[in-house]
Amino acid sequence: MAAYKFLGFLFLCIVFHLSSSGGIKNLSIVPFNEGFNPLYGELNVIPSEDSKSVQISMDENTSSGFHSKAMYIHGYFGASIKLPENYSAGVVVTFYTTNNQEYPYRHDEIDFEFLGHIDGQEWVVQTNFYGNGSTNRGREERYVLWFDPAKDFHNYGILWTKNRIRYYVDHVPIREVKRVDTMKGDFPAKPMALYGTIWNGSNWATYGGKYKLDLKYGPYIAKFSNFMLNGCPFDPTRKSTRCDDNLGFYDISLHQRIKMKGFRRKYMTYSYCYDNKRYNISLPECLFDSKEFEHLQKFDPWTFGAARRARK
Ligand SMILES: *[C@@H]1O[C@H](CO)[C@@H](O)[C@H](O)[C@H]1NC(C)=O
Ligand SMILES: *[C@@H]1O[C@H](CO)[C@@H](O)[C@H](O)[C@H]1NC(C)=O
Ligand SMILES: *[C@@H]1O[C@H](CO)[C@@H](O)[C@H](O)[C@H]1NC(C)=O
Ligand SMILES: *[C@@H]1O[C@H](CO)[C@@H](O)[C@H](O)[C@H]1NC(C)=O
Ligand SMILES: *[C@@H]1O[C@H](CO)[C@@H](O)[C@H](O)[C@H]1NC(C)=O
Ligand SMILES: *[C@@H]1O[C@H](CO)[C@@H](O)[C@H](O)[C@H]1NC(C)=O
Repeated sequence: MAAYKFLGFLFLCIVFHLSSSGGIKNLSIVPFNEGFNPLYGELNVIPSEDSKSVQISMDENTSSGFHSKAMYIHGYFGASIKLPENYSAGVVVTFYTTNNQEYPYRHDEIDFEFLGHIDGQEWVVQTNFYGNGSTNRGREERYVLWFDPAKDFHNYGILWTKNRIRYYVDHVPIREVKRVDTMKGDFPAKPMALYGTIWNGSNWATYGGKYKLDLKYGPYIAKFSNFMLNGCPFDPTRKSTRCDDNLGFYDISLHQRIKMKGFRRKYMTYSYCYDNKRYNISLPECLFDSKEFEHLQKFDPWTFGAARRARK
């Protein structure tokens, strides 16, 4: 028995060694000015002198944001982000891909949303996605973070392939969605650009809107750096599908999968997959994990405890 356990341990060590980068290779970093343009509130979009980073802010005059110059069909999109310090209730900082300008009623979107912070409380981050305008079927998950994201830069990543979406925090995968045919158009499938924004989400963001924006603590500043735009730039005149092959190396290792499960069973505070008040039959991509469910029931018995979960 002991020998088997030791071999298992050794195996995990080797796997850990092979995958300590989280499966994300050392991709090249794009300067802000090369990859991005301001989106709105241009006076509040301030690149550093070397263009390695940018700060966006919200003050009494405006909120602000930026977006990538190119659109991409699939890719890995990453940035290191430092969130506004101190009281930031009602302040939403986002890092996401979308095509809502190009396809207003059938847009795709893959999100990271930071939902503001009050002193002494944990930060909450939300992930979500839409496909082909499926905005009446939100697929939100929320988590607390194991660090203070306003203190230092931390890395956030979105992987999007033909059949998969994965979200990363500091190179740890925290959520994976596998496309199933019954999702139909709900899985993002059209070229998207990458966005970063800061805005007033007082009516919903922090504890469901309980705590609101207070400009006396502003200006609110979010900093972004280490941009990775490892996608297939979309060229409407030349429909190339070949670059998807390059995304193959993002296979998730056993060690990463263990880390992902550990994260979800400890830090997840909401998942639409277990919210049967909202979806009496869970959406088709949902996979039932009894430990995740137990954790959510303990954390939020009102949402996840009362009713019996309807199985597919
Ligand atoms: C990663 O890339 C950077 C810049 O391209 C380089 O300086 C660094 O040495 C690389 N790191 C590794 C571990 O390859
Ligand atoms: C907001 O705009 C006013 C008028 O242009 C200006 O005086 C003020 O300094 C601006 N506030 C900030 C924080 O930039
Ligand atoms: C945050 O609060 C601390 C302590 O009150 C203060 O020293 C610091 O300047 C504040 N930071 C910002 C960005 O306002
Ligand atoms: C996307 O939505 C449009 C308009 O609602 C519809 O015509 C189209 O079939 C949908 N595409 C997919 C892949 O579901
Ligand atoms: C922020 O949004 C809330 C809710 O939409 C609104 O009531 C409030 O006036 C806004 N605050 C500012 C400073 O724009
Ligand atoms: C589930 O919800 C849908 C839409 O809200 C409703 O039409 C359907 O009757 C419900 N099914 C069950 C089994 O309760």
